[in-house]
Amino acid sequence: MSLIIQILIIFSMLIVQPAIASEQNNLETYIVHVESLDSQLSNDQSQDLEGWYNSFLPTTLASSNEIPRMVYSYHNVFPGFAAKLTYEEVKEMENKKGFLSARPQEEFSLHTTHTLNFLGLHENMGLWKDSSYGKGVVIGVLDTGILPDHPSFNDEGMPPPPAKWKGKCEFNFTACNNKIIGARYFQNGNGTPLDSDGHGTHTASTAAGNFVKGANVFGNANGTAVGVAPLAHLAIYKVCITSCSESDILAAMDTAIDDGVDVLSLSLGGSSKPFYDDNIALGAFSAMEKGIFVSCSAGNSGPFKFSLSNEAPWILTVGASTIDRKLRAVAVLGNNEELEGESAFQPKDFPSMQLPIVYPGLNISDFRAAYCTPSSLNNTDVKGKIVLCEIGGGTTRIAKGQAVKNAGGIAMILLNIERQGFSTAADSHVLPATNVNYEGTQKILAYINSTSTPTATIVFKGTVIGDKSAPMVASFSSRGPSRESPGILKPDIIGPGVNILAAWPISVENNSNTKSTFNIISGTSMSCPHLSGIVALLKSTHPDWSPAAIKSAIMTSADIVNLSDTLIEDERLVPANIFATGAGHVNPSKANDPGLIYDIEPRDYIPYLCGLNYTNRHISVILQRKVNCSVESSILEGQLNYPSFSIMFGSSSQTYTRTMTNVGEANATYTVNIVPPQGVSVTVKPPTLNFSDLNQKLTYEVTFRRLDTASNTTNSHGYLLWKSSKHSVRSPVAVFETKL
Ligand SMILES: *[C@@H]1O[C@H](CO)[C@@H](O)[C@H](O)[C@H]1NC(C)=O
Ligand SMILES: *[C@@H]1O[C@H](CO)[C@@H](O)[C@H](O)[C@H]1NC(C)=O
Ligand SMILES: *[C@@H]1O[C@H](CO)[C@@H](O)[C@H](O)[C@H]1NC(C)=O
Ligand SMILES: *[C@@H]1O[C@H](CO)[C@@H](O)[C@H](O)[C@H]1NC(C)=O
Ligand SMILES: *[C@@H]1O[C@H](CO)[C@@H](O)[C@H](O)[C@H]1NC(C)=O
Ligand SMILES: *[C@@H]1O[C@H](CO)[C@@H](O)[C@H](O)[C@H]1NC(C)=O
Ligand SMILES: *[C@@H]1O[C@H](CO)[C@@H](O)[C@H](O)[C@H]1NC(C)=O
Ligand SMILES: *[C@@H]1O[C@H](CO)[C@@H](O)[C@H](O)[C@H]1NC(C)=O
Ligand SMILES: *[C@@H]1O[C@H](CO)[C@@H](O)[C@H](O)[C@H]1NC(C)=O
Ligand SMILES: *[C@@H]1O[C@H](CO)[C@@H](O)[C@H](O)[C@H]1NC(C)=O
Ligand SMILES: *[C@@H]1O[C@H](CO)[C@@H](O)[C@H](O)[C@H]1NC(C)=O
Ligand SMILES: *[C@@H]1O[C@H](CO)[C@@H](O)[C@H](O)[C@H]1NC(C)=O
Repeated sequence: MSLIIQILIIFSMLIVQPAIASEQNNLETYIVHVESLDSQLSNDQSQDLEGWYNSFLPTTLASSNEIPRMVYSYHNVFPGFAAKLTYEEVKEMENKKGFLSARPQEEFSLHTTHTLNFLGLHENMGLWKDSSYGKGVVIGVLDTGILPDHPSFNDEGMPPPPAKWKGKCEFNFTACNNKIIGARYFQNGNGTPLDSDGHGTHTASTAAGNFVKGANVFGNANGTAVGVAPLAHLAIYKVCITSCSESDILAAMDTAIDDGVDVLSLSLGGSSKPFYDDNIALGAFSAMEKGIFVSCSAGNSGPFKFSLSNEAPWILTVGASTIDRKLRAVAVLGNNEELEGESAFQPKDFPSMQLPIVYPGLNISDFRAAYCTPSSLNNTDVKGKIVLCEIGGGTTRIAKGQAVKNAGGIAMILLNIERQGFSTAADSHVLPATNVNYEGTQKILAYINSTSTPTATIVFKGTVIGDKSAPMVASFSSRGPSRESPGILKPDIIGPGVNILAAWPISVENNSNTKSTFNIISGTSMSCPHLSGIVALLKSTHPDWSPAAIKSAIMTSADIVNLSDTLIEDERLVPANIFATGAGHVNPSKANDPGLIYDIEPRDYIPYLCGLNYTNRHISVILQRKVNCSVESSILEGQLNYPSFSIMFGSSSQTYTRTMTNVGEANATYTVNIVPPQGVSVTVKPPTLNFSDLNQKLTYEVTFRRLDTASNTTNSHGYLLWKSSKHSVRSPVAVFETKL
């Protein structure tokens, strides 16, 4: 299942619907931006918002058998609407006064038993206790809907919805309770908030599922399943079936802002775009202005550089890493070599005898054969054999297993390709299987090359806790730098996103005796709701913190070492690049007491956007009011009061200031420790900051200087660490050449 999501994300970059040139009757859903009604009032006092938007639609629409053109009227995310229009009609609309822009909508893709212990959250102590498990905070989840009667969504211990709550339950039966306090669907929702996919049920339960004992998949990963904020409320906005349309996402964000959510969690996204044309960024800006925290998945297009979704600085961009639990399944070859692998399906009765191996990929006249697509197996005799299948080729890992099973194969060994390195997936396979890493792939291919009768078996070793290499960045986790704003380090943070157990609407074991059904899947879609849940806990303990303050607390307290206390690695087992990890791995308990925060107010983004050289008109689209950059100040990206640094070396030296707010002890002295990136000198003035009050703000200046032009700053990174007797406030520093 997880690969479906990963593959979808990779392909999503390509699903851009072009404007259909000339067919008069070819209606498409366009997202249309117009000037705000307020700016028009002098012309016509009588107009209401709907009237203003309708005035842009073609007048010929009056005829009664026309299908309705207006899809959504937006009032929070930006002044504008979604409407079904032809290309010609849009051209005509462009001449109307107040029109700003229009383009066809795109389709976006969908990008825990043990996780909570791994994150250091324990019952009746620490952050869970302090935050009352996120009690009363409302997390809005934009996804594929939800299965409401799953035990993870029981409302035991839940307070009623907060007084401010205005949401609706659009299930046609009594499905909402004090856990699920809202459930809505949009155009693409098939008339129900019910989840027919599984992705939305999984992400919602990861963020805020209640306690369910004895959760497991095929007996593996057994334990108590619980979301990160088990007493937070869920508000469900179904915007996807298998993909998600932009007009629905915008309508959901527009509605969620009115409904009164505190956190928005979006495990979906498209490709990088200018922020004024990035509809999730636009909706998120309006949400942020109202104090709503927006947490989004970074995308599953790694390990390639510049592969991020959801890059805006007012969004938390979340990458994915492993936890210390493995569901081990070892491939034992005929030459006694043992190859580590993983699977969630681990049959007890699999024979230990050696079985013949077949590798359909040896047939060079059929290049698809290596991928075990259903039709490609027709030419290979797999009956009674263990089949080697390469990951990729547009077929999910589970579908490969189904194809092997249908063709009569006994078991499957899934082979990682080079770029996946040591990232493996424990899936709910339909036959005995294991996914080996790339080192294993090379060993097994060399072995089958060395003998005319290659054999193997799979030994299932069950759930093993304590993998000291965790957290390790997953190969699929999208990487920076940010395309749209390379001067802001992205992703911001990594969190658990590999082999995550959470609620699932159907039994992957075909067990019809239980409603307590779970599945294990992987993706940045899974790491995002972990962070959304953590944000809910922090909103509980610090209700007065702005979204930027919460983000700063999460980032400056993140871990940069793995469980064996050395730097976090990536799928190649080398220390991970800063554009893979951002600030590092989330540490919720430390985030609750960060000492200092880098705050950003909504108006601080104006000089930042002017500095991106966006036109006044483009910035007005983001801010929903007129902005004139010639009278605003304009700053470089690096000058935004962000908790991290991403330094592009064009010139040889750059100086920025940062302002920190004291949220720790009133009297505290902080001294800076500098670990400069290789080839760069970093100086900070003053090197000591003496705080004497809570909420006091103090400013420092930091200069980055390239030591000499010949020095190699590729992949170079370091950090600034402000230390007091009680707190460590760390800001990562990434450095790269402008001509990347
Ligand atoms: C409720 O919705 C489901 C799914 O859309 C539909 O099959 C069913 O007939 C509806 N039931 C009622 C009572 O409207
Ligand atoms: C899961 O754990 C619970 C309690 O620890 C135990 O009672 C149950 O039998 C276990 N289930 C499986 C399938 O291992
Ligand atoms: C492969 O076999 C399946 C079932 O065995 C069949 O449905 C399919 O048409 C075959 N495909 C090709 C390309 O022969
Ligand atoms: C290889 O694939 C080709 C084309 O699909 C098929 O005709 C041939 O029989 C296959 N050869 C073997 C050895 O499986
Ligand atoms: C298989 O053996 C041949 C000949 O010995 C060699 O050229 C080839 O590289 C080997 N392939 C692998 C995958 O080891
Ligand atoms: C992380 O953990 C692994 C396994 O314990 C260890 O070998 C490695 O040195 C650690 N450090 C890095 C860089 O990940
Ligand atoms: C569940 O049932 C489906 C449909 O009958 C089948 O294809 C699948 O292999 C079954 N899965 C398991 C784990 O038994
Ligand atoms: C904006 O334009 C100025 C002046 O042309 C230039 O120095 C600066 O690099 C540009 N900024 C960006 C982000 O492109
Ligand atoms: C923006 O401000 C400048 C400087 O005051 C002024 O010349 C210009 O007309 C303004 N532009 C708009 C669109 O108001
Ligand atoms: C902070 O230190 C000053 C001077 O040392 C002292 O007067 C003040 O009471 C202290 N404030 C707190 C809250 O401890
Ligand atoms: C902060 O206080 C220390 C002594 O506690 C002093 O040495 C230092 O100069 C002060 N720094 C600033 C910037 O005031
Ligand atoms: C800089 O270092 C990187 C990695 O350390 C290396 O790949 C690259 O070739 C080096 N570039 C130069 C110009 O030396």
